[in-house]
Parts: sequence; C-alpha cells; structure tokens
Amino acid sequence: MSSHHEDGAAQQTSHTPDPSLSSSTETDSAIITVTIGATVPTGFEHTAAEEVKEKIGVDARISKDRGRIYFPITTDKLFQVHLLRSVDNLFVVVDEYDHYQFKESKEETLMELQQLASELPWNNALKVWELNRTLKKKKGHRKGGNVMKAKANSDVSNVVAADTEQQTLTQETSPAEGDTKPEDAPDSESCQQGSEAALPEAKLVKFRVTCNRAGDKHSFSSNEAARDFGGAVQEFFQWKADMTKFDIEVLLNIQNNEVVVGIALTEESLHRRNISHFGPTTLRSTLCYGMLRLCKLQESDVVIDPMCGTGAIPLEGAIEFNSSFYIAGDNHDMAVNRTVNNICHIQKRRAAKGSTPGLPIDTVQWDICNLPIRTGSVDVGVTDMPFGKRIGSRKKNWDLYPSCLREMARVCRPGTGRAVILTQDKKCFAKTISRMGGLWRLMLTVWVNVGGLHAGVYLLKRTAAVFGQTPEDVHESRRTTDAQMDVKKDEELS
Ligand SMILES: C[S@@+](CC[C@H](N)C(=O)[O-])C[C@H]1O[C@@H](n2cnc3c(N)ncnc32)[C@H](O)[C@@H]1O
Repeated sequence: MSSHHEDGAAQQTSHTPDPSLSSSTETDSAIITVTIGATVPTGFEHTAAEEVKEKIGVDARISKDRGRIYFPITTDKLFQVHLLRSVDNLFVVVDEYDHYQFKESKEETLMELQQLASELPWNNALKVWELNRTLKKKKGHRKGGNVMKAKANSDVSNVVAADTEQQTLTQETSPAEGDTKPEDAPDSESCQQGSEAALPEAKLVKFRVTCNRAGDKHSFSSNEAARDFGGAVQEFFQWKADMTKFDIEVLLNIQNNEVVVGIALTEESLHRRNISHFGPTTLRSTLCYGMLRLCKLQESDVVIDPMCGTGAIPLEGAIEFNSSFYIAGDNHDMAVNRTVNNICHIQKRRAAKGSTPGLPIDTVQWDICNLPIRTGSVDVGVTDMPFGKRIGSRKKNWDLYPSCLREMARVCRPGTGRAVILTQDKKCFAKTISRMGGLWRLMLTVWVNVGGLHAGVYLLKRTAAVFGQTPEDVHESRRTTDAQMDVKKDEELS
C-alpha cells in the first residue's frame, strides 16, 4: 500500500479489491501496515511530525502540499493516532501518486479517474476503516452521518469489539464540525459527490467522495472529478451514494500532479475537541498545541494567557502539558465566562468518565496593561493577540502591543522567561519588538494560516535585564508615538 508511484495513470497496475468486504473477517485481527495522512495547521507540519515521532515512534513525511503529513503505522497503533493533539483530520491512504500524468483533455482525464476507482488497492484501507469504526462505537449519530447500521445481511463484515480504552477515546475526542480541507489551499476547491441521481437500489453501505483540488493546471473541476470518480466507486462497490448520512468518505486529494486517494478516519475535525462555548475568534486547539510546544514547558512552570478569549490555549495546555499551571485572563467578562464554562465542561466530561476532573488552570478578569501579578514570577506568556480585525482595531494595536509586551516582560522571569505570541498584525508587532530589544529577543517566527489570514507565531526569550532599568521602560510613550508616525509614513509611501 501507498507505493509512491513516480508515473501516471498509464502505468497503474491492477489490484484485486474486495468490493463486498464480506471476506475480510479472517484477516481483521491481523496487524497490517498502512499509511496515515493527517491535515495539520499550516506552518506546524514539523511540530506534528515531531509529535508523531514522539508518540508513535515513526518518521512522518511532510507533503509538498502544506498542511499535510503522512506516516506509516501498524494497525495496533490506530488508537494512538487518534490521541495526537496536532492533527485536525485523519485518513488512511488507499494509494498515492507523486507525479500523476493528467491527460490533456478533460474527457480523457475523467475517464482515467473512473478507471482508477476499480484498480486501486482498497482492501487494507477498508480494513483500517472498519477497525477505526470500532474506536468510535457508542458515539451516536451526529450531523454528517457516518454511523454504520449493522444488519444481519450487511455487506460489511463484523469488526473487533471496542475495548474500554477505545471507548474512552470516543468520549475524549468529541469535536464539533468537520473540515477535511487544509485551510490555506490557494487556487483550490473542494467538492463532494455522491452521484445520487444514478443510485442503484438502496444498499447498506453509504458513501460519498470528497475531492480537494489545488493547482491551476487542471482541465477539470473538483466537482467533475468527484462526480466521475464517485460514479465509478459506486459502480465498483455497489455502495449507495449519500452526501450527508454516509458511512464511508472517500477522499480524492489532488495537488498539482500529486494524487492521493484516502478514506477518512475522522468525521469531524479534531481541532475543536476542547471547546464547548465558542467565541468570535476561538483558536483551533491544534494550533494552540503547536504554540505550546514552542514554549518548551518545564515541570511546574507558571504559564499565563493574558488575552485568553475562550481559553483555547491554556485549556489545551492544562490537558496536554499538565505539569505546568495556567492562568487564563481577559478584560472582557463574556470571554472570562466562556473560559470558565469551557473548563467546567471538560471537568464534567472527565468526572462522568470517572477520571480526575481537576485541571491545573484558573481564570481571572484583568487588563493586560496592568496584571495583578508579581514582577518576575511567571515562566511563560502565551497568547493570541487581537489582530485588529474582528477584535480591537489596527489603530488601537499601536498602544496595546507595546503595553502588552512591556507588561509581559515585567511579569516574566528575566533570563529564562519565554513568550509565544500569535498575531496577524505583523507590521505593528515587528515595529514593537524592534524597540524592545532590551527586554525580549526574537528567537523564531513560524508563519501560519489562521482562518485564511497569514499570521506569525513569534517565540520570544526574556533577556536577563531587570525590568525598569531598560530604555524601553523609560521612553515607552515617546517610542509608541514614533512607531505610529513610522506607520503613517509607510502608509503614505505605499
Ligand atoms: C484574538 S482574541 C483571543 C482568542 C482566544 N485565543 C480564543 O481562542 O478564544 C483576543 C482577546 O484579547 C482580549 N483583550 C483585548 N484587549 C485586552 C486587554 N487590554 N486586556 C486583556 N484582554 C484583552 C479580547 O477580549 C479577546 O478576547
């Protein structure tokens, strides 16, 4: 499986798939090796690969297509894959082609995609899909479907029973909505096809094909690819197409001339697993995880998110890096309430499962410019600043950013303190940090995509300078005015 074909459809070999799945029972318990694909927050592919190495012990390959990684697993590791914190959506690879030779004409290309459906090595991927289904048992029917209605005359063979650990997983991962497409696919489109018009008589297995296409050299649309490939899948397996209540989602990912066919293992993106009370700018928990990893947290570190919104960052920290203590603060009472509700929700969920409900986190309403915290008593500040679009304004950022960085420098321990800051207002941040060299040193910038916006995650290290003795503290108000003037000049010039 997942051979890395260097050539195109013309050299595809024929496989012998098992359309009915009915003879797979014997081999269900046998451990097989498959390739797992995962969508991850763009910019944090290497972080995700690190997590895979750390928790599953294998090397992940980062796709040309930013926002995806691939790694091999043996099926006994499937449970661990669902516990990864850096991945949004998971799929098992049916087959992949690094250099698929698309034909010139649309008709020929679509014809080849139809042919491909009957030539793919589906068996192992379908076995993994079956096994995966057991991990989700008792999850109930949610929007988007994917609940298998097992009947005596089912085309689908029986699967191994879920053990208690797997059921625990089911409850831990309860995301809200799906998203199988990387966020930043320029010139990309996505289309789902079930070819309902051409349905045969109702069959038990329902499926849909989702085509994610990126690249401008294709003679066909994702709609056409999904429709024709989906029609051929339907004919081959005699499955029933259903766009909403599907059991199997077949993914046809096309990025320029890279083609990957997969079967989805997550119905809904895992990135919203921690949050029940959303706000206007709730950050994906997978992005929060990436930011927290940059902090290199040590045992008993005190970590603050001074502008926590719904608490997505400190909550992810309290769950995944739970030997540190988190303080989540915001100046808006609704934000603080949402954070409290999100914490309570997770605590209740934990208590219901009989696990320790307590989380190392507390909340407070405060103003970032005047934190009720002793100087030098915090190890890490990690936050997602107002971009000045949905929250605040670009103009206000010129006051807010210097005040925020100065106050964080005050509370962070000189010499060892760190800050990880996300913002899309890169100009304001760059000017601010360039004037704070006495207090902060910029160590690393990771470029990420946040809801289609190009943003930076900045890792800062607190210098050893004692707060109150650097020029930044003394001349701040004048420097802020200078910075505003600089921007005005920049804007006039551009
Ligand atoms: C981009 S949002 C943070 C979103 C958050 N990461 C989440 O996942 O929900 C920025 C937050 O900064 C807060 N904020 C703005 N000015 C502030 C200030 N002076 N002090 C404290 N919080 C502030 C806003 O209320 C908002 O909740």
